[in-house]
Amino acid sequence: MGYVGLCTAATFASRGIKTIGIDIDEDRIGQIQRGKAPLHEPVVKRKLLKATTDTSEAVSTDASFLTVGTPSQPDGSIDLSYIKNATESLGQALQNKQRYHLLVVKSTVIPGTTSKTVRPVLEQSSGKTIGPGLGLCANPEFLKEGTAISDALHPDKIVIGSNDKKSANQLTRLYRRFYGTKLPPVILTSPETAELVKYASNAFLATKVSYINTIANIAQYIPGVDVNQIAGAIGHDPRIGPLFLKAGPGYGGSCFHKDLQALIHYGRDHGYDPVLLAATEETNEQQADKVVGLTEKLVGPLESKRIAVLGLAFKKDTDDIREAASIRVIDRLRKKGAKIVAYDPMAVSSFENVFGNTIELAENRYTALKEADCAIVMTEWDEFKKLKARDYIANMREPNVIDARRIYRPEEFEQLNLVAIGLGSLNQERAS
Ligand code: UDX
Repeated sequence: MGYVGLCTAATFASRGIKTIGIDIDEDRIGQIQRGKAPLHEPVVKRKLLKATTDTSEAVSTDASFLTVGTPSQPDGSIDLSYIKNATESLGQALQNKQRYHLLVVKSTVIPGTTSKTVRPVLEQSSGKTIGPGLGLCANPEFLKEGTAISDALHPDKIVIGSNDKKSANQLTRLYRRFYGTKLPPVILTSPETAELVKYASNAFLATKVSYINTIANIAQYIPGVDVNQIAGAIGHDPRIGPLFLKAGPGYGGSCFHKDLQALIHYGRDHGYDPVLLAATEETNEQQADKVVGLTEKLVGPLESKRIAVLGLAFKKDTDDIREAASIRVIDRLRKKGAKIVAYDPMAVSSFENVFGNTIELAENRYTALKEADCAIVMTEWDEFKKLKARDYIANMREPNVIDARRIYRPEEFEQLNLVAIGLGSLNQERAS
């Protein structure tokens, strides 16, 4: 019942499909039972979504979706212990089941995991073999945080990987029932292909972000050049497309870094060094140095300077700070002796856990700006878009602003010192 599991369960239940959400975390299950989680309470009330810590309840269903986490290990490879434990307890529960049961692996797993890890654990613990009585599919999800329910309701494709026809047919039937006439294209593949599709998708998206950040960093040396216009122009080419070309402080979130590291590790493990993917990651890491470099250029040495960081979440409309660019930027600013005061509409408490009391956390965007020498917009929250030049001028010691998310129109901020990622201006020829 993590992010993916909960959204999957809630969307199934919302379409009248009886769904059981299983997790070993009792607090979480309690919350869902009380309708407290981000899901529609009516489905809980109508008993279409039941939440429990008892894995054996899965036996009463036709299909189980494995949605446990696959966190990074220090070497970049993924930790499969949750996958193995959950599969084993499901297998044990299935031992005496007479009817057909399908296990669907939704967690992001390295190619080969469904066939070489999940299958043997499932077969051994259930005492059955994949075939007429037991099915197994790999079926990755492509949900984005913040729009997960809507993404689950309107996916651009469904990828189903299996080694036997019955499993793929069963899952396709379930999705046909779910989507009706709006069934998106269903792509049937081997389990390994389905697993790699997920990594290929995230690696491509992350590379697109690092690519536009690279162009932004070059654009910055050229007076009169704006990376947003470049992105808009190249985006008209259907081979490129307009989305995911927003320059910024670098990507964050629980997936991109983890998945790229897993893919790089997998390649190297097999004797191939995927240098493109390593460059995507390195470019992303360097982007934090770019933000700090622009700050130094604007305010000089950072020792004892008071820097207001506006936005900590890895993107707007979430309290998630996992791998957020704000963490990388604040780390670097602190190493240079800057005093940080940070504010985020949702993510302040998550941030307290990371930085403790080593940084100041402000109550709101205005108190964050008080007496600051520079403000850096790190997340594109709507409430920061509403700030006017006069708000910065009235509150800050010096109205120096770094727009790392390109939320402002420079012509509206002419009274203050605005520097923006990917915007080359006359006094910025030598921007770092
Ligand atoms: C991503 C994938 O989009 C999703 O398909 C997958 O299932 C999980 O990983 P998510 O982590 O929720 O989803 O975030 P996403 O909206 O993709 O943004 C990732 C990061 O890239 C954010 O930090 C965002 O700010 C950044 N980004 C995105 C940019 O800097 N520029 C862009 O143009 C797009």
